[in-house]
Amino acid sequence: MSKSLQAIRGMNDILPDQTPLWRYFEATVAGLLDTYGYRQIRMPIVEFTELFKRSIGEVTDIVEKEMYTFEDRNGDSLTLRPEGTAACVRAVLEHGISGGGQVQKLWYMGPMFRHERPQKGRYRQFNQIGLEVFNLEGPDIDAELIVLTWRLWAALGIRDAVKLELNSLGTSEARARYRDALVAFLTQHLDVLDEDSQRRLKTNPLRVLDTKHPETQAVLINAPKLADYLDEESRVHFEGLKARLDAVGIPYVINPKLVRGLDYYSKTVFEWVTDKLGAQGTVCAGGRYDGLVEQMGGKPTPGVGFAMGIERLILLLETLEQVPDSIARQVDVYLCAFGEAAELAGLALAERVRDQLPGLRLQVNAGAGSFKSQFKKADKSGALFALILGDDEMAARQIGVKPLRGQGEQLNIAWDALAEHLATCAVQA
Ligand code: HAM
Repeated sequence: MSKSLQAIRGMNDILPDQTPLWRYFEATVAGLLDTYGYRQIRMPIVEFTELFKRSIGEVTDIVEKEMYTFEDRNGDSLTLRPEGTAACVRAVLEHGISGGGQVQKLWYMGPMFRHERPQKGRYRQFNQIGLEVFNLEGPDIDAELIVLTWRLWAALGIRDAVKLELNSLGTSEARARYRDALVAFLTQHLDVLDEDSQRRLKTNPLRVLDTKHPETQAVLINAPKLADYLDEESRVHFEGLKARLDAVGIPYVINPKLVRGLDYYSKTVFEWVTDKLGAQGTVCAGGRYDGLVEQMGGKPTPGVGFAMGIERLILLLETLEQVPDSIARQVDVYLCAFGEAAELAGLALAERVRDQLPGLRLQVNAGAGSFKSQFKKADKSGALFALILGDDEMAARQIGVKPLRGQGEQLNIAWDALAEHLATCAVQA
């Protein structure tokens, strides 16, 4: 195929064989969020570039290297959203729905765009489900966010495969004091640091803690620890969060090097990671961003949230074979009709059955065909039963109900009794 007719590298089609699993995943998350009182918000996919620069931070990988930015016909600089928090804060501010201390517990879902190097679990267009909570400053809501993901992992059957990592970044003042101490320390070891860390030391020193370079990691062993610089308020907040996780029995590890790649965080940060997906093991991540709303022009408003990567979680479900059987079958019954009179009667009968059994997944054969070919299609559809309407059945005003998955003999059922019969076998199956 010529290059122009291929999808862009790192941007994937989700094919019909895959969408049932996506819909199952999305419905499971949405159903759970309903029960915890979160409401959905939908933001545009494109925003002014300035929004992301101001929120995510000018010297982050996302803003420096990964944004899809373009000029529109008005000459405005626009960017395909690389994440959802910035746009959510913008929307909440623009519509005044967090004013006067109003609590908002929101969630969103959709594609995000980052020009990263594509590999398993890392794409240029990927999908997130994100949650953002405004105007709650205590550790109780940080805990709720983690508790509900813990419940979600159980509902999806992946709880044993994920691990929670936690850290506290403190207030911006505490972080500034720590940053000074870290820079002073690392400057003494400048010649040992890798090139990237030398650059980060000048632009965003906390990100040096993230390094994968063994030499820099060795230097970091003796570096000042963020925990020693935590202010009292952040320390109490972090203790409060840990006490709540302990109360529910959620295991976690404190990772002092967890700093996250976006600049807006303060106090709590966390990541759910798995070792089942190779290098891209973070399936869900977030934290508190108490300064962000003010930084974006609003009144001081505490905020906290996270986002999960749908592709990574789908991969994890597949890897752990936690794909429910029920989603594999998309057709309950398949109606085969032979001859024009049978096709007309079959169509009308199918509509009557649909009226009576709205949940039934009934596929009517299209494109006519011989007994053999229609039957083959019925079988391939995955249906539990084929409904057969030929000359004999037409004469008797009956329809053949033939089990396709070895559940007994074919029965002939009167048209008027078909819905009732299917209700006892196909719908419940
Ligand atoms: P993030 O850590 O950049 O945070 O992304 C959250 C999750 O999105 C990651 O843990 C990962 O599962 C998924 N993800 C990120 N990049 C990719 C990619 N290139 N391909 C596939 N999946 C990816 C945020 O986006 C923050 N807005 C989260 C947040 C919300 N913090 C507070 N509120």
